[in-house]
Amino acid sequence: SAGAATQSADRGAFRGRTAFIFAAIGSAVGLGNIWRFPAVAYDNGGGAFILPYLVALLTAGIPLLFLDYAIGHRWRGSAPAAWRRFRRWTEFIGWWQVLIALIIALYYALILAWATNYTIFSLDQRWDSHPDGAAGFFGEYTQALGGADVAVSFDYVPAVLISMLAVWITVIVVMALGVQKGIAASSVVFIPLLVVMFIILVVRSLFLPGAIDGLDAFFRPNWAALADPGVWIAAYGQIFFSLSVAFGIMLTYSSYLKKKTDLTGSGLVVGFANSSFEILCGIGVFSALGFMAQAQGVAIDEVVVAGVGLAFIAFPTIISEAPAGALIGVLFFGSLVLAGFTSLISIVEVVIAAVQDKFGLARVSSTLLVCVPIAVVSTVLFSTTMGLPLLDVMDKWANEYGIVAAALVSSLIVAFVVRGMPTLRDHLNFRGTFHIGRWWYACVAIIAPLVLGVSLIISTVSLLS
Ligand code: PHE
Repeated sequence: SAGAATQSADRGAFRGRTAFIFAAIGSAVGLGNIWRFPAVAYDNGGGAFILPYLVALLTAGIPLLFLDYAIGHRWRGSAPAAWRRFRRWTEFIGWWQVLIALIIALYYALILAWATNYTIFSLDQRWDSHPDGAAGFFGEYTQALGGADVAVSFDYVPAVLISMLAVWITVIVVMALGVQKGIAASSVVFIPLLVVMFIILVVRSLFLPGAIDGLDAFFRPNWAALADPGVWIAAYGQIFFSLSVAFGIMLTYSSYLKKKTDLTGSGLVVGFANSSFEILCGIGVFSALGFMAQAQGVAIDEVVVAGVGLAFIAFPTIISEAPAGALIGVLFFGSLVLAGFTSLISIVEVVIAAVQDKFGLARVSSTLLVCVPIAVVSTVLFSTTMGLPLLDVMDKWANEYGIVAAALVSSLIVAFVVRGMPTLRDHLNFRGTFHIGRWWYACVAIIAPLVLGVSLIISTVSLLS
């Protein structure tokens, strides 16, 4: 029949386990590690956060990662195709994941373009010349095509457009090269480079005055926080997001693995590598924030931010105030670019693979069919004054609802409607060096849905109030 059964002769494949592991780490290590984790950990118990964080990793992050691997590898397809082969009527889960991927790709690319520009801006720290400093500069820069003060903001039009174009051309080239020569090859180069650059950044930051105060604030354990259920929800939320589980990413990547592959051993490597890098990010970011607090004579508490504010307002300020700030800037924004790029290609791959499987297209055709429209829409959409608020709405929707619902629905369907866990466990254990016991059922069928369900309720309540 047409549809999922139609599949291009050559879907592509990873050459081996190493290629897959680098690609999977590339997806997991992203903006969330650098700009989300440090503030989440600080706000939720500091050093004590490590406990709920590890519990979340072991009881839900890695178990759901295994579920993604099992579905993708056993049913060998893009998200909609694999779910369809699992059970015809579950194909909708795959399309839901494709929709989320599409939305995330739109704004992830934009952030990457900004980081690319800011890598270069770090050299002359041009935000210094703005009367309102880094914050004022960023406001004008992000409204390049529709800012209130068109005369000023118009200067940034070429910068934004060129870097957006550069991001998309690179993405298109890499994706057109395919799974091994594009996705795996770029991850194998970018991830080690990222680690080296980030370690240099951490070492440099550690020697800034005030760095120790920053680390003290970050690691000081607030054990009482562990009694707060919100802290546990935050830990699970961070793990889900950071490991890129339930986005259809890991499912798609594992469909490119050879039939005889050690899935569970690979999953453990990916899970622990991601968390190790995340903790390194906390050290780097808080050393820098400690410096910023001291330089400005304020408490650490007043300088802790996450997301766009951390990267594009706090860090430029740090770069301007620190000795040899340009180096810090190039390392920080360069890291964002590398980490973000390997995540962006993973999210775009969910869509490309789905289109390729659905229409039986060649790799290059499906790459262009998917990437060109996303590139155009994201460039036009975000070059206006609506851009920033829209980014916020899309990010919230995708990460607080879209993905939580996808994870919840898929684990419940697999565990209770289809009762497919034992088959999937056998599949994972067939070649897996790490043997999965029956505890896995409890993680996927009880712990994960419970936490996901509560998160969904909390997000809804806070939206309504
Ligand atoms: N795992 C990535 C991170 O920690 C986030 C991400 C989510 C990447 C979805 C791609 C897709 O930043």
